[in-house]
Amino acid sequence: MKPIGLKNKDNITYLNGHVLKDIAHTYKTPLYVLDEVQLLKNINDYKTCFKSSMFNTNVVYASKALLTKEIAKIINEHNLYMDSVSLGDLYVAKESGFNMKHIVFHGNNKSIEELEYAVQNDIGILVVDNLVELKRLVEITNRFEKNIKIMIRLNPGIDVHTHVYVQTSKLCSKFGESIYDDEIVDELIKTVSKAKYVELIGFHAHIGSSVMEHEAYQLEIEKMVEFQNKINNKYHICLEHLNIGGGFGITYTKNNKALPIDEMIPNVVAYLESEISKTKSLIKHVYIEPGRSIVGNAGITLYTISQIKPTYGKKNYLFIDGGMTDNIRPALYQATYELDVINKMNDKKEILVDVVGKCCESGDIIRTDVLVPNVEENDILMVYSTGAYNYSMFSNYNNMLKPAMILVGKDIKVISKREELKDLLRLF
Ligand SMILES: Cc1ncc(COP(=O)(O)O)c(C=O)c1O
Repeated sequence: MKPIGLKNKDNITYLNGHVLKDIAHTYKTPLYVLDEVQLLKNINDYKTCFKSSMFNTNVVYASKALLTKEIAKIINEHNLYMDSVSLGDLYVAKESGFNMKHIVFHGNNKSIEELEYAVQNDIGILVVDNLVELKRLVEITNRFEKNIKIMIRLNPGIDVHTHVYVQTSKLCSKFGESIYDDEIVDELIKTVSKAKYVELIGFHAHIGSSVMEHEAYQLEIEKMVEFQNKINNKYHICLEHLNIGGGFGITYTKNNKALPIDEMIPNVVAYLESEISKTKSLIKHVYIEPGRSIVGNAGITLYTISQIKPTYGKKNYLFIDGGMTDNIRPALYQATYELDVINKMNDKKEILVDVVGKCCESGDIIRTDVLVPNVEENDILMVYSTGAYNYSMFSNYNNMLKPAMILVGKDIKVISKREELKDLLRLF
């Protein structure tokens, strides 16, 4: 949905006081635009809402949603932790000056190189996905004689009502080890208890992405707290840290509204407090890992319209200068977006179109069956809530150029440059 900095006055569209049409001309389209005011509000909402008098809290920004040097800098300045999932993520974090002690390193198939890099760079917490990985990590820490804190990723077997590609906690999921597999859990605990340099501090779970129901988190919290209590009792250990992952949904369309951060997160805190006190749990530190809900609704993408092409089959196509390369989500998960034409927001919307890109794929669709006003060549289309998993999932298919990303607050800052033709030859 629309970011808070977006205003429409006398049919002129502004973002934080800047005329959007001028921005599109100056920085060229396609263009990723981030509303700094919305981004900072989201960060602050998490910081104020994820608080408890019963346990310490840590908000871990899931950088897979969007990562540039500037984003890493903002996350660092606000003292959030950051979730990384690859050597590339770790490298960008480090080169951006991010506090590596605040890195939570994920991944279901970390390479030896990634594990070594994490150990050598003293990251905060490594989330171990499985037993094989744990054994590799023990060997690496022995070799380097370096300590590392870990959590173990568990699969609590929760079936959330989201797209099948973003469910992560069904019993057959590739992520983590099942809380129901006593044998493997036993081996994990025994392996870590014998390790000289690896310290297990708690467990992690992430139930999926674009989760709209707070009840799913309630179930996750019940299962994870119960499991952690059981392990503490059974092995006479004291695991005080619990990470319940991210996945908090955002509102992409009017028909599917998500709870705002300041409603969803207090619910989560209340469930945690109730479960921890009811079960007399030893948990004293809780982490959440929002990605989408920090950057998603702060983003809009601007495209230049070239024409509406009618077809013999009666479908009208609105052609834009970007498409699936800058936003793969409609093709990947049938994601739907709301959109408007800049400086025509007050015009009557009466032409039914599919908004499509310029790639050689019929699935290169940004939005199907949407009403738009009477557009002309060079009008600018803006697609809302594109801040998460758009820039980060960009591909160079058809040798399309990666759009620039700008951060728009009082001033405008280019936080990722637009790719140029010569960049396409960099690897050849
Ligand atoms: C382990 C983990 N944590 C956090 C996230 C962030 O999810 P979201 O961006 O939906 O909040 C993901 C997303 O895939 C994830 O895999």
